[in-house]
Amino acid sequence: MTDSIKVTVVGAGTMGNGIVQTFATFGHTVTMVDVSEDALERGRAAIEKSLGRFVKKEKISQDDCDEIMSRISLSTDLANAVSASDLMIEAVFENEEVKKDIFKTADAAAPAHTILASNTSSISITRIAEATNRPEKVIGMHFMNPVPIMKLVEIIRGEKTSDETCAQTISWSEAIGKTCGVANDFPGFIANRILMPMINEAVWSLHTGVGDRESIDIVMKLGCNFPMGPLALADYIGLDICLNIMDVLQDGLKEDKYAPCPMLREMVEAGKLGVKSGVGFYEYS
Ligand code: 3HC
Repeated sequence: MTDSIKVTVVGAGTMGNGIVQTFATFGHTVTMVDVSEDALERGRAAIEKSLGRFVKKEKISQDDCDEIMSRISLSTDLANAVSASDLMIEAVFENEEVKKDIFKTADAAAPAHTILASNTSSISITRIAEATNRPEKVIGMHFMNPVPIMKLVEIIRGEKTSDETCAQTISWSEAIGKTCGVANDFPGFIANRILMPMINEAVWSLHTGVGDRESIDIVMKLGCNFPMGPLALADYIGLDICLNIMDVLQDGLKEDKYAPCPMLREMVEAGKLGVKSGVGFYEYS
């Protein structure tokens, strides 16, 4: 059992609040940081809702839930939060400049021992680390959605990430019930290098009439024992995120096979983003 640590999570969205919930569930003290009180309040409400599902299923008690919530605080002041943290995990939207700004601020304010991690799904850890004076302490911690349920943390080593930082990050990940796979710093790392082309191929299959949406999903769900078909999964992840990752793969790996299917781009341009917008390959109420 690892001692309790202090964690700052930057970004109160789906991934950020899931990460906050998970660390707090395992006894750690967490500050959730975002730019507005509204975003923080939405993040807090999402955590309460998710914990409520565990209470309803009697996996935890209401007292456990209250205790977990008491370990979470909210802040709009990143520098102040990170100044007392052992670990920072950045989980904001996929914009390299925004991430670099966050790492620069965190690097200036955090104690020397603090590890600075990014939950990026595809942006280079080596480039993010260049915004800091501690590249050996910068690492990728790529969580999967839904964070409280999914067992993986994909660890990404930047060019200068030290063995010590890697070992410590794996140890903390295991202490919150996760198992790690370690990737080197290539576009899309391991998870999205393999998952996104598969999803993109499912979109091509729909686009070119290989099958309808139900057939594509049921073949992969029952034929490959996936928890959900690739089109339903794309809706769940968000089609904008899928498109962004395909663009990163194509830009970084310079191979035509990573070109996003035009149907994916058209759907994103039409605002069909999946579950979060109410429409994607399926409709959601
Ligand atoms: N909080 C708490 N509990 C949750 C939850 C949440 N946010 N989401 C799901 N659950 C629980 C449910 O309560 C249920 O619990 P039970 O087994 O005790 O009844 C269990 O998880 C299963 O949920 P459901 O019954 O609602 O539905 P499913 O059985 O279809 O499971 C799912 C939902 C867990 C999302 C499952 O379909 C699944 O594993 N899908 C694949 C998810 C996946 O591949 N994620 C990775 C995406 S890629 C990624 O994140 C990387 C990024 O970079 C793109």
